[in-house]
Amino acid sequence: MTRVFSGIKPTGHLTLGNYLGAMRQWAAVDQHQADAVFCIVDLHGMTVDHDPARLRRLTRQGATLLLAAGLDPELCTVFVQSHVDEHARLSYVLECVATDGEMRRMFQYKEKAARERVRGGSVRLSLLTYPVLMAADILAYGADEVPVGDDQAQHVELARDLAVRFNQRYGHTFVVPKATLPRVAARVMNLQEPTSKMGKSDDSGPGIVYLLDEPDVVRKKVMRAVTDSGREVVYDREGRPGVTNLLEILAACTGGNPESLADVHQSYGALKKDTAEAVVEVLRPVQARHKELCADPGYVEEVLRHGAEKARAMARPTVDTAYRAIGLLPPVAEPALNAAR
Ligand code: TRP
Repeated sequence: MTRVFSGIKPTGHLTLGNYLGAMRQWAAVDQHQADAVFCIVDLHGMTVDHDPARLRRLTRQGATLLLAAGLDPELCTVFVQSHVDEHARLSYVLECVATDGEMRRMFQYKEKAARERVRGGSVRLSLLTYPVLMAADILAYGADEVPVGDDQAQHVELARDLAVRFNQRYGHTFVVPKATLPRVAARVMNLQEPTSKMGKSDDSGPGIVYLLDEPDVVRKKVMRAVTDSGREVVYDREGRPGVTNLLEILAACTGGNPESLADVHQSYGALKKDTAEAVVEVLRPVQARHKELCADPGYVEEVLRHGAEKARAMARPTVDTAYRAIGLLPPVAEPALNAAR
């Protein structure tokens, strides 16, 4: 069976973009059709300035929301990255395979490092090595497919390169993964800035619908979305990014087609109203389930404990093989030591 691996960083509250662009597909499709592994990648949440208490809170909330979105621990594996040591173990090995030049070419590094420098801050070394850790996440599980947004395609490409290079130098160890862009998913843009993605880490509140926003907050944000000059509702990514984003969100929520939805809406106001209600309806069951799960923290803990155990059992043999292949001396097991004496 195809092994699928994906991760979400707990660097902000999860958004409608995370849900429509990824989580919903994982629940509806991937967990049924593949051997799917989903991870809250908390180690990745420390590459820029972070608050320990917030990281802990967002990690728990992220895991709870994955379950609320319909990931079923009977069908797939859900866990927290830092609960499984294999990620960090393999990451170091891959740092001995990747090159400095390769890291500095990563678009996301260049962008984020530049942003940090403008703020006068220092750039953490982990921001540079982050794609190696991500490669370790993927390769430790022998993932065939990695469903990610297009902003992560370059990182998955690096994971492929490292797998191929390691296999050539040290013998076949890793499955060579490929990125899969979600089949049906919407690419949800920021409501205030419809040419950039609705990212959770941006923290420019009014343009971002969070999964846990109250219905009235959702309505307000959608009704205040930036639209374009002109009056008629037309689907046009380039010319009408604001209206097009609303059409895509509405289509994703109702299973409709954005072009035909443009035809049946006479005004921006009508489109906004329908979109707001559609989003509220899509979020309703997720929020209800989240509330139930929060009332039963022991259940979530148990799911994560069991998930980490399953994940460890999957990753351990591959990472051990990589250790041996690259030349690290295997430790002698305890009983053998005793026997030798
Ligand atoms: N880098 C990804 C992001 O920012 C998150 C991530 C970390 C990931 N490790 C992964 C995604 C492994 C897929 C597979 O969205």
